[in-house]
Amino acid sequence: MMAEINSDIIKAKEYLDQDRLIGLPTETVYGLAGNGLKAEVVSQIFEVKNRPHFDPLILHSYSIDAIREYVTEIPNNAIKLADAFWPGPLTLLLDRNDKIPDLTCSGLKRAAFRIPNHPKALALLKTLDYPLAAPSANPFGYISPTSAQHVEKQLGDKIPYILEGAISEVGIESTIVGFEDNETIIYRLGGLDIQEIEKVIGKVKVLPHSSSEPDAPGMLKSHYAPTKNILLGNIPELITANKNKKIGILSYSKLYDENVKVSLQLTKSDDMHEAAKNLFSHLRTLDESEIDIIITEEVPSIGLGKAINDRLRRAAVKD
Ligand code: TXA
Ligand code: MG
Repeated sequence: MMAEINSDIIKAKEYLDQDRLIGLPTETVYGLAGNGLKAEVVSQIFEVKNRPHFDPLILHSYSIDAIREYVTEIPNNAIKLADAFWPGPLTLLLDRNDKIPDLTCSGLKRAAFRIPNHPKALALLKTLDYPLAAPSANPFGYISPTSAQHVEKQLGDKIPYILEGAISEVGIESTIVGFEDNETIIYRLGGLDIQEIEKVIGKVKVLPHSSSEPDAPGMLKSHYAPTKNILLGNIPELITANKNKKIGILSYSKLYDENVKVSLQLTKSDDMHEAAKNLFSHLRTLDESEIDIIITEEVPSIGLGKAINDRLRRAAVKD
């Protein structure tokens, strides 16, 4: 049976075909999407997000064959990863051809591609004859959105339409992977666990994430930051040191009540996927609460825990 194309998908397509931007649901985070082959559309994305032009965008498509139209070659390991994890929270850096405007990939010779695992996003992409450039739909440097409401709140007055999906199942951005001189390199830790990648192609190299002038410019140190001050460390000690302030807690699993105004846990059952799914929405809830500071801690560094800690550290850095 042919999948039914709902009226909301038709509407989203109409806006996109008119060179306008929409909010796009994906399983990682919501995107701010537009025609990735048109520099004037991509330029609007940078403007709406207030994003510097040196920070390249990810192109979203529905199949490897569609992506082949925009690249010069796909390395073997890329094919293996695509077969294993697409659609899913994996972004591949591939050598691009000149169908992709420089602005989309900040003039770099590679472009980033992803097939999102979200029924509405896929249904929409299949109706389009261009890939969608879509960064996370947040103002540059702020917490990424995991629901249509988050997008509405932050960018609702700047875009004509948000395609509504459910809450993003994965909750953190895709894992970004590139290939150089027979090496596979992880440029951004994300929703696909490195161990899963290594099961398919063997050992990979993870780029250190501390640089503020990185190869993947989205790795800027201060990122994902709430407007409230966020302290990362030992929660009980930080509570004691700040007991005159109104405190909000974001813990891995334990709840706190003494001297604390709001306490949120990332997971109730030691489930790292649940923790990832809750991360950005809990940070947002705390940022919007009547508190002075957010106190948080690193989660166990296993599985997606590494990607979660990466985001917590960046959120805790002030410029
Ligand atoms: O899960 C995701 O990846 C989400 C959803 C919407 O798909 N998108 C996302 O996009 O996180 P964004 O714009 O917030 O992050 C894109 C990052 C850039 O900051 C950069 O680090 C990396 O992808 N990137 C994109 N193109 C690149 C390129 N040609 N070379 C190196 N890094 C690139
Ligand atoms: Mg982002």
